[in-house]
Amino acid sequence: MLEQLELLEKEALVALEALEDSDALDAWYKQVLGKKGTLTLMLRSVGELPREERPAFGRASNELKTKLEAAFEARAKSLRQADMVRELERGALDVTLPGRPIGPGHLHITTQTLRQIYAIFAEMGFQVYEAPEVDTDELNFGLLNMPPHHPARDMWDTFWISDEVLLRTHTSPGQIRAMREFCPEPIRVILPGKCYRYEHITARSEHQFYQVEGLAVGHGITMTDLIGTLTEFARRFYGPDRRIRIRGSYFPFTEPSIEVDMDCILCDGEGCRVCKGSGWLEIAGAGMVHPVVLQNGGYDPDEWSGFAFGPGVERPAMLKYRIDDIRLFYGNDLRFLRQF
Ligand code: DAH
Repeated sequence: MLEQLELLEKEALVALEALEDSDALDAWYKQVLGKKGTLTLMLRSVGELPREERPAFGRASNELKTKLEAAFEARAKSLRQADMVRELERGALDVTLPGRPIGPGHLHITTQTLRQIYAIFAEMGFQVYEAPEVDTDELNFGLLNMPPHHPARDMWDTFWISDEVLLRTHTSPGQIRAMREFCPEPIRVILPGKCYRYEHITARSEHQFYQVEGLAVGHGITMTDLIGTLTEFARRFYGPDRRIRIRGSYFPFTEPSIEVDMDCILCDGEGCRVCKGSGWLEIAGAGMVHPVVLQNGGYDPDEWSGFAFGPGVERPAMLKYRIDDIRLFYGNDLRFLRQF
């Protein structure tokens, strides 16, 4: 029996040395030291030996077990090391290669459009006034002449943070903030920023978009000042030949209210798919600031008057650059964004 152990030792060690990867290593372990391994079976058969041979055999086979386990560990370690060296050689890095250059970024099309708008209004004496995107029901609606349950609120539903606080649906609440800050001085500001609506998302409508509100308050300001300002804006932004058309409209915060249209830049007023055959495109809601709104801002409507307007930003950009889907703006597809 002892000779069998010696033989097993010799064979097992030779086999262990010859192994080349960890799969073979596992197989070796199973075959020799596993539950049904050669050595394990031999150890179990100790009971079949004559009584006097048992102690010597038991000792010898336990020693062999320890020895083989140690040999196994050592072999496993050296195989792991060999694996690592091979991995490193295969994935060798040349750390002296120059890195990949990171291209310079550029401004988003919305930011570019906003800056064009700022520049045009700056030349007409309007300064930029920023108001918060998270605002109150009172500023977004109430002080703009839409008390609770006013039916016009339906057009401007939004994301509510609480019963009192909401994501603003338009930049118009900034009118009240600007008036309260500047009163009793005359005002000429534009109020750019993000607005939110509870909106079905389509090629024409997003639930998040930009507007640039305009507000002028002073003595003797009239509707012709408003029309002149918007005509000038349209010509500078879209091209010198643009024409403007005014239609009567309704907004709770202006009186009278108008809708400003521009002749379609795609068909020059001939009628096409974009202007739905009419030759005209709507570019902004506007009007003379409602006396109640002036009063809410701190101005006496008997002495002061003003005009206001509120175009979007993405729609003008869509017209100017012939973009046919508003969802592209914030879809973060670089193939789209890189074109501008
Ligand atoms: N706030 C309006 C909207 O989001 C747009 C608007 C209309 C703004 C008339 C104005 C205005 O300042 O006078 O639909």
